Amino acid sequence: MSKFEIQGPAKLTGEISVLGAKNSALKLIAATVLIKDKVVLENVPDILDINILIDILKKNGAEIVRTGHTLNIDTTNLTSADPDETLVEKFRGSIVLAGPYLARFGKINIPQPGGCAIGARPIDDHLNGFRQLGTDIVKNGCIYEYKREKNEGAQIEIRPSVTATENMIMTQVLAKGLTTINNVAREPQIADLANFLNQAGAKISGAGTSTITIEGVEELKGLTYKVMPDPFEACTFICLAAATNTQIKIKDCEPNHLYPFLDKLKEIGVDFEIGSDYVKINDASHLKAIDITTGVFPEFSTDMQAQTGVVLTQAQGTSHINETLFENRLGYLNELENMGAKIKMINAHEANIYGPTKLVGAQIKSLDLRAGATMILAGLIAEGETTIDHIEIIDRGYEKIEERLAQLGANIKRIS
Ligand code: EPZ
Repeated sequence: MSKFEIQGPAKLTGEISVLGAKNSALKLIAATVLIKDKVVLENVPDILDINILIDILKKNGAEIVRTGHTLNIDTTNLTSADPDETLVEKFRGSIVLAGPYLARFGKINIPQPGGCAIGARPIDDHLNGFRQLGTDIVKNGCIYEYKREKNEGAQIEIRPSVTATENMIMTQVLAKGLTTINNVAREPQIADLANFLNQAGAKISGAGTSTITIEGVEELKGLTYKVMPDPFEACTFICLAAATNTQIKIKDCEPNHLYPFLDKLKEIGVDFEIGSDYVKINDASHLKAIDITTGVFPEFSTDMQAQTGVVLTQAQGTSHINETLFENRLGYLNELENMGAKIKMINAHEANIYGPTKLVGAQIKSLDLRAGATMILAGLIAEGETTIDHIEIIDRGYEKIEERLAQLGANIKRIS
């Protein structure tokens, strides 16, 4: 197990680039299963989950070559063999192989996906959507066997699950006739997937709204596409600047994907500047407590909750957090308590944060992807040395995070 060793408080200056969005890139790579042609994907972060998905497809005949943040992909020779079970179980994103495989091969056998410890991570919304699309699904031990004879349009309704929405879209782009999917997720990554597939020749409309319409096409053509910037990386670095009151510039991001988080940041009292592809913090010396309730987009993102929670430990007054989506995504607050934060856990979904409190370095652990990055922020605010273990979880979503933060002046070392 590797760990990070951090000396705080950090005096940071300069600027940091936001990389491509993990939760978009994963789906665009899965979508290449639908395109028997050469695809060039740019701005793909070099992180664990992405590299596991690449391994899964390469093991079954796809040609994928990474050059820096660019992937050259050709799935022409991909076989219909089932994806490697042990790799599928390593991360939640693998669930989005089901749709493309059903569209291309009419079948797939895969286990329940893995992922963070943020909650049960059920897949009932996926199963329900696939069944409405005429898919037979049998659970055989821990393997789900999906089979679909016909590839036809349908009118279906799902719950606004992000990956379920992405699965339904990918299942139907090559179906005969018209498909309407109601009550879909509206996250920016859904539009990134629709833009990618439309550029390959698909006919998808309504991405970003609650209803998506797809006119099936015969085949998709190769393309070159740049993955959208990661809104959760951007949020992490903006919270770092706010929590340490340092004037760093977060660049190569998409500010339009950062609402309502930026509205909440203003409510906290952070003074910042927004450009076309950057956010620059000017002053965060007077922070005040606020209330946050997470929800499906366009509500406040659950993936921005933990980072904002750290900022609120430095804000004057009582903040209230209501994490409505996942039942185990407040655990990081216990770690912050070990560092001196004043917290009251109300229930599995709600907590109060009383600030401002001085944080002191401690030995802490990273519980899930976003909480792990949040621990780094806490270590950079705290007085003294903080060590964070289980940092492989952080590597799942943040490329070379310690090297990039060190460029801002952070004193952070990876101890293998
Ligand atoms: C995606 O997970 C992201 N993962 C998550 O990122 C992110 O936290 C989440 O969306 C919410 O934005 C990827 O895109 C790979 P959901 P997803 O389905 O699609 C419930 C990660 O893993 N639900 O939108 O699994 C679920 O329990 C994290 O990389 C069902 O009940 O999330 C949750 O309460 C860091 N049944 C809510 O819906 C289902 O079949 C939203 O989950 C699916 C979900």
